[in-house]
Amino acid sequence: MTTPVTDYQTKTPVWEARADLLVLGSGVAGLTAALRAQELGLRVLVVTKAAVGDGNTRWAQGGVAVVLDGEHDEGDSVDRHVEDTLVAGAGLCEPDAVRSILHAGPRSVSWLRDVGARFDPGATGLLARTREGGHSAFRVIHAGGDATGAEVERTLVAEATGRRLPVLERHIAVDALLTPLGAVGGVTVLDPNGVPGLLRAPAVLLATGGLGQLYQATSNPEIATGDGLALALRAGAQAADLEFVQFHPTVLYTPGARGRCPLVTEAVRGEGAVLVDGAGASVMRGVHPLGDLAPRDVVSAAITRRMTTAPGGIDDHVFLDATGVSSFAERFPTVFAACRAIGVDPARDPIPVTPAAHFACGGVVAGTDGRTGVTGLYAAGEVARTGLHGANRLASNSLLEGLVTGAGTAESVAADLAAGLLADPKQAREPRLKTAPVADRDGLQRAMSRYAAIGRDADGLAVLGSVLDLSTQDRPLRTHRDVEDAALTLVAQALVAAAERRTESRGCHVRADFPVRDDETWQRSQLIRLSPSGQPVLADPVAAMGAA
Ligand code: SIN
Repeated sequence: MTTPVTDYQTKTPVWEARADLLVLGSGVAGLTAALRAQELGLRVLVVTKAAVGDGNTRWAQGGVAVVLDGEHDEGDSVDRHVEDTLVAGAGLCEPDAVRSILHAGPRSVSWLRDVGARFDPGATGLLARTREGGHSAFRVIHAGGDATGAEVERTLVAEATGRRLPVLERHIAVDALLTPLGAVGGVTVLDPNGVPGLLRAPAVLLATGGLGQLYQATSNPEIATGDGLALALRAGAQAADLEFVQFHPTVLYTPGARGRCPLVTEAVRGEGAVLVDGAGASVMRGVHPLGDLAPRDVVSAAITRRMTTAPGGIDDHVFLDATGVSSFAERFPTVFAACRAIGVDPARDPIPVTPAAHFACGGVVAGTDGRTGVTGLYAAGEVARTGLHGANRLASNSLLEGLVTGAGTAESVAADLAAGLLADPKQAREPRLKTAPVADRDGLQRAMSRYAAIGRDADGLAVLGSVLDLSTQDRPLRTHRDVEDAALTLVAQALVAAAERRTESRGCHVRADFPVRDDETWQRSQLIRLSPSGQPVLADPVAAMGAA
């Protein structure tokens, strides 16, 4: 599939490959899309900057939220799942997108089970179901106790291997190839040694996951650096809802932790565990009618408030008392192992926990069919903003979104190709290796954690903006690390611009200086794109209202 074309010393791409569809990313959305596209007869190439299966999907613990026919609580329904999603999303979900994705959920889960996924059985022989924050019913199915993402990824990778789906591992996409009319016709990539290449295709699907590495502590793996979002912005696509970064209320706390921190799934609270402070007092009592199972934004903000008002000064963690959860080690083997590794026995000891960056509710503006505003560019999964999550994602809705929109995007690509709507990739220009503004990653993560986590204000965001401006330098993108750092820098700038402008608190966006939700001014998404000089700019607020 690859042909050498020029010499590396010229700094132009030295090899080239072609396909009908390039899928960037090998998590749930990417592999589901690739498998469906292959079924539809397309030549697909999956490109991943790590090894296949190394993405965020495998770290998902809690499960898949879905209301299956004949397997649900008395009175539960897809419409109630829709209602819970809209409530959690704090007024910014797109109701049509929510309905379309959640109603398609049972069929997608059934497909996944047909290709081999094994979910945990309950006592009745039906699937076991648990509850997580914001859900009004037990509708979260799970696998391996708390290893649902790992089972989903295992199933998809096995299916891809069995079907000999072509996968190019350890290649990072740098930039889109664009035709003179602005359609996407492929991407430039760097191989593991930094050797550049060209991948040409009339359709490119971004399924590159999230951006948790913007922050010092996150539940996301090292590869979650916002690359797909940055590539989309540079290609002319719009993004929205970037200010809504969901902090998971409970990752395992260890002093000074950096990078990926072990998640303590919300399902532990679903099975009865409660959040307490250092004095043993409930964190959630009196905060929300759903108590410890309030939506995630509410719980994370309550924990943060309790930590900052701790007697004796600011504290950096609270505790999850799971001593009343029966058979903890069997039900939550992943969490149990992580606790034991730091000498905590959840059957006896309260688990030290703290919030950490977990999920990007916003992203590249895309329909539930994966189409973006740029011909030939599609987005699905965490990188996309379909309108399912609004200002705060409902727990365990994301694996479902990846399954549904991944398959739907493959169908859109096939339809667009058949209708002759996509560009001839031969018309797409070969960009030179990009030079882009790059900030020091460590400094960026520190500043983002300090000023753009839970509890933002105008002064802090202004400081953060200056830090980003002053610490960036234009650099050629020669290595995987350079490409990631450039993506983190651009995405941080865009996020800060959106967070500065939104002068209210809503969902995951908590402003200390504007603590109240302001529906009159702010019940709308903010659209963001790049100016001709490459700066993130927000669309005019009035124009954005109907558009997003
Ligand atoms: C969890 O298990 O708490 C995380 C699941 C999710 O983020 O949807």
